[in-house]
Amino acid sequence: MAPLVSVRNLSFRYSGASALALSAVNFEIESGEFVLLTGPSGSGKSTLLRAMNGLVPHFYGGDFSGEVRVGGVNTENSEVSKLAEISGLVFSDPESQLVSLDVESDVAFGPQNLGLEKCEILNRVNESISQVGIENLRHKPPHELSGGEQQKAAVASILSIRPKILVLDEPAANLDPLSAASLMELLGELNSKGTTVLIAEHRTTLVAPYASRVLAMDSGRLLASGTPREVFTSGVLNNLGIEIPAFYAIAQELTHRGLALDGARNIQDLLKVVEGRKRKND
Ligand SMILES: Nc1ncnc2c1ncn2[C@@H]1O[C@H](COP(=O)(O)OP(=O)(O)OP(=O)(O)O)[C@@H](O)[C@H]1O
Ligand SMILES: [Mg+2]
Repeated sequence: MAPLVSVRNLSFRYSGASALALSAVNFEIESGEFVLLTGPSGSGKSTLLRAMNGLVPHFYGGDFSGEVRVGGVNTENSEVSKLAEISGLVFSDPESQLVSLDVESDVAFGPQNLGLEKCEILNRVNESISQVGIENLRHKPPHELSGGEQQKAAVASILSIRPKILVLDEPAANLDPLSAASLMELLGELNSKGTTVLIAEHRTTLVAPYASRVLAMDSGRLLASGTPREVFTSGVLNNLGIEIPAFYAIAQELTHRGLALDGARNIQDLLKVVEGRKRKND
């Protein structure tokens, strides 16, 4: 079966810019993956996400080469409105995505635009609100919600379109640590029930526990693709200004010192390895 996302030799230069924002990027995403896209500021994360639903090159003009296919559709030959049904984008600023008088209307907005029957719209609204667990917010005006609640409502308003992939651009950027963690937990849950997730985030510690794969970028190039363990312990990201989650930083150091980590999955496991070594030496 063809991958859900296929990016082939993608390069992009914004109109008037001298440097490439994306340079010969290649990767694929299969259905069911949870992909963390990370990299320093200006490395091209948002540009790459914009290419997932055709905003690049249809809305942001420039020199585009290579090929992006999402759900089998070549984005260059498709309209942004059609691509929005395949690739649903959530931004950092939820207020820009919530435009109605109450949450329910915002969640109904996408299905209404698709021209669906009333009962199907209601089905989708009920389903999305329940998936995201915001029944209590259903009749509230978006401006009365906290940032974390708004972002969950924004996720519900995208899920109701039933996109093939949920794409999020630093969705926790404006959230406090607790709301950010709660949003990530929600994304992890949605993924475990089948939603494919692609999320750009530089706070890797926040997202890594949920990610099945990490894509790391620098200066428009894709530097690494692999499991969080592979990417964060490879050393490729050192000194780039990319946050290495503490667990992997310590694991990398212990491996350097010749300690076998035997499938350690968290900091507690690492402590056991160190304590075992200490006992041996005592
Ligand atoms: N609308 C635009 N017009 C011209 N250049 C742009 C535009 N948006 C981004 N760029 C440039 O493209 C490059 C990649 O930017 P992009 O926003 O994709 O990076 P990013 O990894 O998302 O950064 P951040 O972590 O700060 O969000 C940068 O050099 C940036 O200045
Ligand atoms: Mg960005």
